[in-house]
Amino acid sequence: MMDKLVIEGSHQLEGEVCVHGAKNAVLPILAATILNGGKNVIHSCPDLKDVRASVNILKHLGCEVEMQDGTLVINSSGACGFEIPERLMHEMRSSVIFLGAIIARFGKAIAALPGGCELGPRPIDLHLSAFRQLGVDIEEEHGYIKCSCDRIVPTAIHLDFPSVGATENIMLVAALAQGTTIITNAAKEPEIEDLQKYLNSMGAKIAGAGTSVIQIEGVKKLGDVEHSVIPDRIAAATYLSCSAAAGGTIELKNVIPSHMEAFLSVAEQYGAKIYVSDERIVHVAPKKLEAVKIVRTLPYPGFPTDAQSPLMAALTLARGASIFVENIFESRYKHVYELCRMGADITVDGRTAVVRGVNELSGANVCAMDLRGGAALAVAALAANGRTVISNVYHIDRGYENFEKTLKALGAKITRQ
Ligand code: EPZ
Repeated sequence: MMDKLVIEGSHQLEGEVCVHGAKNAVLPILAATILNGGKNVIHSCPDLKDVRASVNILKHLGCEVEMQDGTLVINSSGACGFEIPERLMHEMRSSVIFLGAIIARFGKAIAALPGGCELGPRPIDLHLSAFRQLGVDIEEEHGYIKCSCDRIVPTAIHLDFPSVGATENIMLVAALAQGTTIITNAAKEPEIEDLQKYLNSMGAKIAGAGTSVIQIEGVKKLGDVEHSVIPDRIAAATYLSCSAAAGGTIELKNVIPSHMEAFLSVAEQYGAKIYVSDERIVHVAPKKLEAVKIVRTLPYPGFPTDAQSPLMAALTLARGASIFVENIFESRYKHVYELCRMGADITVDGRTAVVRGVNELSGANVCAMDLRGGAALAVAALAANGRTVISNVYHIDRGYENFEKTLKALGAKITRQ
């Protein structure tokens, strides 16, 4: 639990990375397995802390789960529970994604309200407002939410913000309703398209994922399904950031380049040579990175907020100053203070961070504060002079499979303690 990563920096990275399945695709898909009361075979399932937390919730609800090297087999026929226990809810904030599927299957759901988290307040008002519009009664008391409904009443729902989780929760709760639900201003992330593909493979009738209008025509029953999870575009962007910081040439296999347009555009601005084929990306790092004038995080297809901190870590060594504007989360700059302890020159003012390039970073004892911020510390450590010890590595394990093994295979001097 209290593992640390020890990294000796200043070693170029060379070699291949096979990118694991997408965390943010598989989590809503795991919730969807509740809907069919049958068999779910999920290939390319990444072995992550958040996946294991979701499996614990499914087992708690009565599902049978087997993990066979990268394939998860879930049978939800025996599921009868409808309460997500507090300890599991706090273990993973995004457990809120289970609510829609549990309500659709059982007509009721109880869960602890997710508290705040490393990224600032994580309200779920858009989820709850959508549920209420769909006929769900929701009581909030003593830090719990109790949902119940006789039946889902399909309707048109406009999201004030294209929330990924709220979009997914509406798709899940409406899949078995009698009638058609429309989402406008829906999130367009590729992980939502993967969820639509999963649900339609079960027999759902959903169209529009990847655009801002999604139509869900409810069906009576959903059947067994077999599916392969799309590659993790954020893990891919993280490994490219490692290569940018440490130098060298790496090749990513099992990626979907069209999911990474925003990051690849920035990579060209910082001076990388990028070669793209259908499922591969070759990234040749420049001797010295060029600063990127401005990086604004935005809903897909804009620059992904999850890649902000890994990229920032690399650009601490760029020639010139880069400006970041974090438009998605309230406080997603906790890694800045740890990077400054390694010699970075970063000034934060609200949602804006100015990163002035320095000539070198020096290894230090640093602490991961959240998933992507922890990965950013590893990016910096790979380029720093000397040794860096990163503590609270459990944050990194939430979203990266075999993190240090992957980097070691690229020539990084990294060990887990
Ligand atoms: C998903 O979180 C991802 N998590 C996040 O990845 C990702 O950063 C985020 O989408 C944005 O792309 C999963 O898919 C499991 P949102 P989610 O609802 O669904 C506010 C990672 O590192 N909001 O699009 O929670 C919210 O506070 C994680 O892999 C409300 O105000 O994101 C945030 O500021 C981190 N009310 C913004 O919207 C709501 O009801 C975006 O949230 C819901 C969200």
